[in-house]
Amino acid sequence: MEHPDTDSLRPGPRRRVLITGAGGQLGVALAAAFAADDVRALTREAWDVRLPAPAAAGTPDLVLHAAAWTNVDGAEDDPQGAAEVNVGGTAHAAELGAPLVAYSTDYVFDGRKGVPYLESDSPNPLSAYGRTKLHAEAAAGAQAWIVRSSWLFGPTGHNFVRTMLRLGAERDEVAVVDDQRGCPTFVGHLAGATRELVDRGAPFGTWHLAAAGDCTWAELAEAIFEEAGLDCSVRRITTAEFGARAPRPAVSVLRSEKAAPELPHWREGLRACLAQLEIC
Ligand SMILES: NC(=O)c1ccc[n+]([C@@H]2O[C@H](COP(=O)([O-])OP(=O)(O)OC[C@H]3O[C@@H](n4cnc5c(N)ncnc54)[C@H](OP(=O)(O)O)[C@@H]3O)[C@@H](O)[C@H]2O)c1
Repeated sequence: MEHPDTDSLRPGPRRRVLITGAGGQLGVALAAAFAADDVRALTREAWDVRLPAPAAAGTPDLVLHAAAWTNVDGAEDDPQGAAEVNVGGTAHAAELGAPLVAYSTDYVFDGRKGVPYLESDSPNPLSAYGRTKLHAEAAAGAQAWIVRSSWLFGPTGHNFVRTMLRLGAERDEVAVVDDQRGCPTFVGHLAGATRELVDRGAPFGTWHLAAAGDCTWAELAEAIFEEAGLDCSVRRITTAEFGARAPRPAVSVLRSEKAAPELPHWREGLRACLAQLEIC
């Protein structure tokens, strides 16, 4: 397994770190976690990753590639469009020639294993989104940490926690899927674990970095309402009843068989997110 050149990656004010998709929820958290470095945070407007890197990308020592097509249902209707961003974009990020962190997903698995997935398990994506992310892993090249995470949420952008906070304030009851199980991961914790992985000079390759613990979407919704003090009940429904466009894995809990940085429990992540939103 190839190891990164740890001298050029040493943390400190001189390390040049490029973040793609800097306007997304993970991109924002990465900029905060790497604030001690010389960070260039490029939003979609500054670099549409479907195109080769612009001059503004400079010559980074490290690339944190957080830009992606993340609309899982939308990718079923436009798989080519999703591939242009996810596969083409990752190839363009790799072309910069610097060590790369390429983020991937639990949706590369089919969820039929029934117990947590390890890095050595074989992927078998069910959805167009999952297939583009699996191809993106291959496009990341040999100088890359493929960081698979799951069910991301944070204080900005579109995510389940923010949606539930809005619905919970508007309604007495929400119907939420209770037959999909995963690891809801706070972007601040994922960004910190990414920094730890890079700073310790971990070997390139695939790493599962997701919150400790696991739950269903319905259990997560109940925890959100409880922590936020919202008087809204959760009606537990099935995936079939919800009827989303894209198929999703039933059990996509991620665990590491390597000495991966450990993330806090998802409930701690939820509290940290709500604290940033000044809700608790
Ligand atoms: N969200 C999850 O639950 C989850 C789970 C596991 C893994 N991941 C992976 O984690 C990474 C970060 O996801 P996230 O949750 O932070 O997603 P996000 O909030 O949707 O952020 C993605 C960012 O990429 C930008 N983007 C889209 N198309 C682009 C393009 N052509 N060029 C440049 N930027 C583009 C988006 O801009 P616009 O907002 O303008 O479209 C957005 O700012 C992705 O690789 C994702 O696949 C996410």
